[in-house]
Amino acid sequence: MTDVLPAGSLDGKVALVTGSSRGIGADTVRYLAEAGADVVINFRNKAPRAEKLATQLRELGRRVLVVGADLTDPASVGEMFDAVKAEFGRLDVLVLNASGGMESGMAEDYALLLNRDAQLSVLDEATPLLSDDARVVFVTSHQAHFIRTTPTMPEYEPVALSKRAGEDALRERIPGLAEKGVGFTVVSGDMIEGTITATLLERANPGAIAERRESAGKLYNVSEFAAEVARAAVDAVPADNTRLVGDVSAFATE
Ligand SMILES: NC(=O)c1ccc[n+]([C@@H]2O[C@H](COP(=O)([O-])OP(=O)(O)OC[C@H]3O[C@@H](n4cnc5c(N)ncnc54)[C@H](OP(=O)(O)O)[C@@H]3O)[C@@H](O)[C@H]2O)c1
Repeated sequence: MTDVLPAGSLDGKVALVTGSSRGIGADTVRYLAEAGADVVINFRNKAPRAEKLATQLRELGRRVLVVGADLTDPASVGEMFDAVKAEFGRLDVLVLNASGGMESGMAEDYALLLNRDAQLSVLDEATPLLSDDARVVFVTSHQAHFIRTTPTMPEYEPVALSKRAGEDALRERIPGLAEKGVGFTVVSGDMIEGTITATLLERANPGAIAERRESAGKLYNVSEFAAEVARAAVDAVPADNTRLVGDVSAFATE
């Protein structure tokens, strides 16, 4: 057990983290469950990993629903929320973590489909289930959040642009969510050591990670960044709905 969130702070709450079979999403859903939440683990391909994590979280005494859903398929998203409704009847925390676009063999518009359109369809399908004081967290990278003012590596640019388009589209939902009492926070972090994305970017740009580490002073690892994502689901919503993790001095603001 960790003390990322106060024990019991999410007792009786229900949390769904998209893309929580591995990486940042898996650690985030674990922190939320450790704080008392019943959870929904969503995966696309990695069913065995998702089931293994579910077993661990059930041992904490939590109810866990595991749902395989490709978020770029609206029917699949609809079925996921039908399952959530049937199992829990509501949602108190929604973490929009799943992301992609650097996979090989995907359609040209796949990054936009996943990082913008799917994020909106997940939020819209979730909204009827959100409780009055629910929280929505969107996870992104500094390279995407600041893409309009700070260029990034060419291999990541389409992903960065699509994630920023997703962030912008989600932000348009803030007034409607606020009316319902639902808080919305964007959590943005630098490259995360040990992730597949960072490894792919390092392969294409040898030295990129070391350069970012030197510039930022420190790069977060998966569990450290996931802890910030989990805290964003509980802490007060920042005035600008944005939680920047780590040093951002290398990124120009508008
Ligand atoms: N990696 C970094 O350096 C970094 C830095 C800052 C911010 N972030 C942000 O942190 C978040 C998580 O990043 P990560 O590196 O942990 O990602 P990751 O290891 O690539 O994991 C992505 C997760 O999303 C799921 N996923 C991918 N495509 C999906 C789809 N079409 N439908 C449903 N689920 C899908 C994957 O499921 P399967 O395992 O089943 O495929 C997996 O659980 C992202 O929003 C990313 O932008 C990452």
